[in-house]
This record gives sequence, C-alpha cells and structure tokens, in this order.
Amino acid sequence: MSPAIGRSVDRVDGRAKVTGAGRYSAEIALDTMAYAVLVGAHVPSGRISMINTSNAEQAEGVLAILTHRNIERIAAQPPLLPSLLGQSAPGETFFPMQDDIVQYAGQPVAVVIADTLERAQHAATLIQISYEETPSITTLDQGRNHAYEPERIFGGLIPGRVARGNVEASLAEADVRIGVTYRFAANHHNPIEPSATTAVWDGDQLTLYDSTQGITATQLTVAALLGLSPSKVRVITHFIGGGFGCKAMIWPHVTLAALAARHVGRPVKLALSREQMFSSCGHREEQLQQVVLGANRDGHLAAFRHHKLSPTSPFDDWAEPSLGMSAQLYTCPNYEGIYRLIRTNTMTPTFMRGPGETTGMFALECAMDELAYELGLDPLELRLRNHADVDPATGNPWSSKGLKECYQRGAELFGWQGRNPIPRTLRDGNWLIGTGMATAVYPVALFMPTQRARARLYADGSAVIQAGTQDFGIGMATVMTQVAADGLGVPLNCVRFEYGDTELPNSSAAVGSSGAGMVSAVVHNAVTALRDQVIALALADERSPLYHADPASVVVSDGRMMLRDRPNRGETYGELLLRHHLQDTEALGSWTPPPLNTPYGLATFGAQFAEVAVDADLGLVRVRRLVGVFAPGRVLNPKTARSQLMGGMLWGLGQALLEGTSMDSQRGRWANASLGEYLVAVNADAPDVEVDLIEVHDEIVNPLGVKGCGEIGQVGAAAAIANAVFHAIGRRIHELPIRIEHLL
Ligand code: MOS
Repeated sequence: MSPAIGRSVDRVDGRAKVTGAGRYSAEIALDTMAYAVLVGAHVPSGRISMINTSNAEQAEGVLAILTHRNIERIAAQPPLLPSLLGQSAPGETFFPMQDDIVQYAGQPVAVVIADTLERAQHAATLIQISYEETPSITTLDQGRNHAYEPERIFGGLIPGRVARGNVEASLAEADVRIGVTYRFAANHHNPIEPSATTAVWDGDQLTLYDSTQGITATQLTVAALLGLSPSKVRVITHFIGGGFGCKAMIWPHVTLAALAARHVGRPVKLALSREQMFSSCGHREEQLQQVVLGANRDGHLAAFRHHKLSPTSPFDDWAEPSLGMSAQLYTCPNYEGIYRLIRTNTMTPTFMRGPGETTGMFALECAMDELAYELGLDPLELRLRNHADVDPATGNPWSSKGLKECYQRGAELFGWQGRNPIPRTLRDGNWLIGTGMATAVYPVALFMPTQRARARLYADGSAVIQAGTQDFGIGMATVMTQVAADGLGVPLNCVRFEYGDTELPNSSAAVGSSGAGMVSAVVHNAVTALRDQVIALALADERSPLYHADPASVVVSDGRMMLRDRPNRGETYGELLLRHHLQDTEALGSWTPPPLNTPYGLATFGAQFAEVAVDADLGLVRVRRLVGVFAPGRVLNPKTARSQLMGGMLWGLGQALLEGTSMDSQRGRWANASLGEYLVAVNADAPDVEVDLIEVHDEIVNPLGVKGCGEIGQVGAAAAIANAVFHAIGRRIHELPIRIEHLL
C-alpha cells in the first residue's frame, strides 16, 4: 500500500462542486423559509433623520421590516480579535441598526423580510430614508493630516511600532540610500460565492447555514452578540465558494439574519448581492508605504525603514500587518517599522489573501530591485548577499527555510542567468520585454488554540474522521482524507472526512495559511490514537496473532495489522473488532500548537520570476511567464498545493495590473462595486505559469511539518511583475495597480 500523503489525489468534493450537487449556504431550502434583503445607508456619515417603512410594509408578501426603531438590541459586542483566533472574531466592533447613526455608506439601516426574494427586493425599494449628513473622510488623501500612530493594530495582536538598532544613524552612514513611497489601491476579495446566511430557530436553539471560513468563530460571535450560550448556536457550512479572508471574520449580516428569523418566527435566508459584498465584509485598505534602504557598496543592508499609512474605520485600529515579515526577511541590524492610521468613514478593513505581506513585500522587493540597480548588482545576487541565515529579529534559527534552493531552482527554470540588466534593450516587435524577480515569504502562524478531532473505525475497515473545520475551496477535505488513510493504514477510499459543523470536535478556522498544518496535526493525532488503541486491543488478546507482540514492531497496511518483520503474523482490524463484538471503535485526538514564543523563526519562503511584454504606445502590459518556486514544508497533495500556489501567483498578476477599488470621495461610496468594473485576472490574462516545490523538513511547526501554501503564491508575484515592467520600459511605477495611464 503506497502512502496517500504526497499523492496528487483528486479533490474529494470536486465532483459535487462541478455537477451542482454541492449545496452552498444560499441554496439551503427549508419549509416556510422567508427571504431577507439588506438596505444600506446611502451616505457615509451622519444620522437617519426620517425613515418611512409604511409603503414597504403594505407591499405584497412582506412579513416585517426591521430598522433601528424596532430591532432587538445586541447583548454585547465582542472584541475585534481576542488574544487567539478560533475564538469569536467579529469583523468590526460596530454593530449597525442599534441607533440612528451612520458611520459608513452601505452600513445596514433596514432589513426587509418577505415570503419571496423578489418581493423583499421590491419592498426594499419602497422604504424612504432621509439623512442628516455630516462631513466625511473616506480616502487616505483626505485624511492625511489626521494620521495617528496606534499602540497596536490588527485587533491588538500586533504592536504599532517595531524597531531594532539605530536606523537614523546607520542611514546617515550608508554608502547608498534608496527611498521610495509606494501607493496601493484598496482591494476587494470577490469570491465567486457572495456571503449568505440561512438562520433557523427551534425554540431558543439557533442553526446558521453560513458561508464562513470559521464555523466556531461564527458560533461564538453570534452567541456573544445575541447573549446566548454557544451551546445554543450551531453553525453548518459544507460548501463554500471561496473567501480569501472576507469570510474569516464574522460580519453583521450573519447576526442580522438570526435576528430577522427570530422576529418573523420562520427560517430566513439573507444573501448579499455582489454590490453589497463591497461594503459588507471588509476590504484590503488603500495604503502608502515608505521604504528607505541604506546599504554598503557591497550590497549589505545596514538600515531599513518601513512606514505605512492607511485608512481604517471610525471605530477600529486595523491595518493589515504589512510590516510583518519585512523585519525578518533580510539580515539588517537596524530596522524601524511604524504603522500610522487615519479614521475614515469606511467599514473596518480585514484580512485579504496574503494579508500584509502581499503589499509589504511588494514595497520591499521593488525597493530591493531599485537598490540592486543603484549598486550595479544582479537583483538575485543582492538578495543572496542579504540572506538571513537566522531570524534577524530575534537571532533564533529558522524552523526550516529552503530559500536559497528556491532562488536557485527558480533561476534555472526561468533562465535568469545571463540576463542583460540594462532596461529597455529587449524587444519583440512593438513589445518591450522585461524580466524581474522577487522573494516570497509568509509567516507560519501558530496562533490557534488546541485542536480536536475524532476518528472512528468500523469493523468493515472503513473510517470516518470528524473535525469542526471547513473547506472553502482549499482542498482541506481531500488532504485530511489522505492524512487519515496513512495514519490508520487503510486505503484512501475507505476514509470519509466530515467537517463544516460546530457539533463536531472543535478545530481550526481556515485562515492565515494555517489550515493544512493545524488540521493535519490533529487528524494525525486522532488516527494515531485510534490505531494505537486497536493495536493495544490485539496485543492483549490471546486469540490474536499479535498477542504479546512489541507494539513498536506492529505496522498496518490495507487495514491489516502485522509484524513488520513477519508480515504473515497479523489480522485485519475487522477480524479483531468483530471478535470483540465491536461494530466500531473510536478515539479523540487533540493537538496544541507550539507556543507563540517558540524560539524559532517561522516562515515559508519562495522565489518569483516574471517576464512581461509592454506596448509603450498603447500602455499595455502582458505577463508572458511566471515561475514560482516555494518551500512549503511537507506537501500533502502536490496537485492541490500547486493549484493554491498558481492561484496565488495569478492573483499577484491581478494585484499588479488589475485590481483596485476606487472611492468616490464626494459620495463616500465605492465607485466600481461590480465584477464588470472591479477587474480580476481571468483565463485570458493567465500566462504560462510554472510552479515548483522545494522539499524542506520541519520538525517544529507541527507533527507532519506542513508550513502551508494558501497565501505565499501571491507574495512577491506583483513585485516580480513590477520589476519586470521597469526592466522593459526603464521607468519605475510606484503604484498598484499599474494602469495604462502610468505607462503612457
Ligand atoms: Mo486568509 S486572508 O487569512 O483567509
């Protein structure tokens, strides 16, 4: 029996997804179900001076209209992020409709509930609302003079300032200095499935079918807001059409669906429209990042200053942690990272794929390219000269690294060697050709609480593994089936992985590239406990061929326990269980991640290479090739890993050239809140993408050494593309996305 781990197994949920058999949260059909439609505020700041719902109330099929005047008050607002994720995780500390105050455009001000979706949508148009508008600030430029330095950001998880050494003095002494400010447009996630919640009350017991990356976080957040015991709230989510971070936190519409259902005494479905997605579940904030690098003539970094300025909401100090890995990627004795924030009338920004690092590493890796040109060094050579053999923030060793191997393999695959560094020298007809590279890095997060899972083995040799996690398209169910099959020693098709229900043992939310590592650890522990338990039964059973054998000498293959050296001495799980009148047996497993102060640098590394063609007359950029080489630790399934990494790299292409949400600062609303006007990379934009994997062995992060590949594919991809654009045209563009007008 060859191991299942490491095999390119097809997705176990793939068929259900592509045939329409999988039911998503907005497709849950229940008897007597009603439909809720959110009405959002049209102004970014002020108060509701008049709200008239009488026409809407009289419209056909309308069951109720909730506004701040008649909705239940929430019991308590949980904090944004507690000390550890996996607990409650509201997207913002503002719950709407508790009074007449408007803090951002799109903020829910009414919920219409009717017997059909169309009737609810129609009635929503009949509500009349007037506002007393107050002056608002909705963009970074408008608020620049009101910036402040927060003590902590990111729900209190990260300090607002990190420093070592003396940046000022070492910059003054450096042979070469580079100072650049990079501007980033706001981004929105746009998963293919917009968020949806179906809420059902049975007495005081609430069930939510919700499109969420964290069922337990949803359970705990809604319970806190409604003043319920978590035991009264069950969250189920079997199929999710992507999330990318916008379903990692729990946004107000989820609780509003529960309140609506309680109000009308029927199940209620609340599905956000695509347009509502732009003002209902967070975004990646607009930002400016200033990078100042000081280096010696030989290219060794002496000083690095990284400052970020970004808008947050009126009520939360949120910035994505763009200065996270910037302090750790290169050996540099003097470092200073500072976040500054501006209160604006927008909702609280949130995680978006590669949170922090995709923008922070864009700034650093583009500045490193500028420094390489300034020094006359090959950009890859400059990175090698500053390679951090230990974690420069702490001096601790890395748990594993593999970055040099990624550079080397990537350079080979791409053909980097012998590159003519002089910009604007390569042509293909009217197209200017350029190449660029960048480092990819993403932290290995250990911030989850103890994980639990249950494994059950049946006498017919089949097994069910249960863990209260969810799969939002990442391949979780597939790889956990593989982990369980190997741990138990049974064929892959004998294992079923059950997930997506808070009734199951509590395990990880799928966030921060941590899902595969966290859940594989606990699934591994659960099946190992079960296997050891069954073997112990055999060793104690005088009728078993394994009676009194040394447990360390027993192996299991194809569901049959046997001695490693004498394989004919053994019996199947089923023979043993049935002899003991057991139709099945089960074990619980748990796993606690290493503590946050583990004395190792914890990160995943990679290298990105890009080739672009630019038509400078028309301002067109075409990415012709992307090569990414990554070292994500143990690869459970090369096929799903590659898909994740390739998806990340293509998202990097979108970040570089397409994605940007524009704020209409006159009206305080996102101006391009649709997939027609917010551009994401599609197949026609996709170049030849090559993904390769470097094996690194990691004994620190978790039992199987899985470092994760959910986000790192995106980190560095946009920087490699922007550096290639410079190489093609000979001019630096310091703004994302790079648009036609920047190139003309
Ligand atoms: Mo991820 S942006 O933590 O879903």
